[in-house]
Amino acid sequence: MTPQEASIRSRELCLLAPVIPVLVVDDASKAADLARALVKGGLPVLEVTLRTASALDVIREMATVAGGIVGAGTLLTPKDVENAKAAGATFGVSPGATDLLLDACEANELPLLPGIATSTEAMRLLERGYTVQKFFPAEANGGAPALKAIGAPLPQISFCPTGGVSLKNANDYLSLSNTLCVGGSWVAPASLVASGDWDGITALAAEAAKLPR
Ligand code: 3PG
Repeated sequence: MTPQEASIRSRELCLLAPVIPVLVVDDASKAADLARALVKGGLPVLEVTLRTASALDVIREMATVAGGIVGAGTLLTPKDVENAKAAGATFGVSPGATDLLLDACEANELPLLPGIATSTEAMRLLERGYTVQKFFPAEANGGAPALKAIGAPLPQISFCPTGGVSLKNANDYLSLSNTLCVGGSWVAPASLVASGDWDGITALAAEAAKLPR
């Protein structure tokens, strides 16, 4: 898969809903219910971070849920890419981007939403052909004003800001012309996942799905 093809797929995914839930799930037995709750609320694109021991099992479970599109986040190494793909992930997300990681995603046909924090990083990815990028960590890097300023001379790049984004500030990003959607964990709080409050998560997802773009 070329970077251009990956970017086309990333754009499609980012346009499916205003928010991509960023999921940190410890208990794979809760994965399918969690995915169903989010999809039911109107958020079909799900990023499962590879930050828990059970993350690959979580991806396997979520990949069976109708209407969901499951990707793997926190991709750091070629092995992560292979594992994620084998578990059923259909896209990847990374906090930054290295040549090794980009090579692996392209070779494994896994469309990647690669992370950037500076103009130089954005330009390097653009040179390689990635026109859809994740701005990370968004709030810590200056938030929506920073993304607007970084994007001004780079209008050919579209972004999914992630990191510190919430219902309160999501609109600041979504109203930018270079922002396709945002990523965030607020739609699946650990407490609601632990208690199995799926209706509560569907309600949070529905609220997020209504955010204007
Ligand atoms: C992360 O680092 O887990 C993601 O960027 C999500 O960040 P958030 O918890 O601030 O939404």
